[in-house]
Amino acid sequence: MSLPLPRGARLPDRAVWLNGRLVRGDEAALSVFDRGARDGGGLFETLRVYAGRPFAWERHMERMVVSAAELGFPVPPPPGRLREAVDEVLQAGGLADAVVRVTITRGIPGGRPVRSCVWVEAEPVVGRLWPGARLRDPEDGGPAGGRAVLSRTPFVPGLLGRHKTTSRLAWDLAREEARQDGADEALLVSPDGEVLEGSTSNLFVVRAGGDVVTPPLSADILPGVTRAVVLGLCDRLGIFSHEAPVPLEMLRWATEVFVTNSVQEVLPLRDVAGRPVPEREVTLRLLDAYREQVTAVCAAR
Ligand SMILES: Cc1ncc(COP(=O)(O)O)c(C=O)c1O
Repeated sequence: MSLPLPRGARLPDRAVWLNGRLVRGDEAALSVFDRGARDGGGLFETLRVYAGRPFAWERHMERMVVSAAELGFPVPPPPGRLREAVDEVLQAGGLADAVVRVTITRGIPGGRPVRSCVWVEAEPVVGRLWPGARLRDPEDGGPAGGRAVLSRTPFVPGLLGRHKTTSRLAWDLAREEARQDGADEALLVSPDGEVLEGSTSNLFVVRAGGDVVTPPLSADILPGVTRAVVLGLCDRLGIFSHEAPVPLEMLRWATEVFVTNSVQEVLPLRDVAGRPVPEREVTLRLLDAYREQVTAVCAAR
């Protein structure tokens, strides 16, 4: 049976590992009885693969397994099995520098035990980079730098904010605001005027003295894997960092602003809500250190 698609639309023809086997096109389908499809009852991880090796795999798996336990999901397949699935998908697509997504759902209710529906997919990284990360700065050769807008809808992340769930409509609508404005990212602002995170990234601000501030996890933001790596790098490089609320006012006076996620890495922002961000020195130091860590980890296996 083929899926009803709008005229001219085609399903991506890439191999997807679904519940234990590689499938393509129409076969990469979910049951309408699956709670992931019905209610957004899913968790996912998006991570980057460098030269065939996933970066920070253990951290991503830990976040997913902890969320699955906290939110009462069926026990997901062991990370070792998912890791094999990643290799199978990369091999089937002939991919080395890629973005991998691992998704688990709450499955179809009724059976004992209820099993997650699980799939793993991969895409070339080039198609996933935002212009600010993909294009080069002619002077220092680093990323051109992103533009961010402030989402117009006051944002309350709530219970799901600290889990990477597939219930993403609120975050996706904010991201849409960025797209409509030709920007790379939309920053989410609480009703009290605190900037929380990006629609798909964590936020960092560098203040005049060179110290780095990022909103605290107690604000129900996503505990980003890249955020944690960057905080570790700040310690290693002797850059003073702390987790504290970022009021809108702080953005206006920041010397540097950057966002982080597993795909875009450490992305300097050159413009936030129409205000040019004056510098990027600390950000580029952190980006260099991040890439060194990627090289060390992904080359050492
Ligand atoms: C809302 C949100 N915050 C932060 C991040 C960054 O997380 P990570 O560094 O684990 O990719 C993401 C990633 O998609 C996200 O969706």
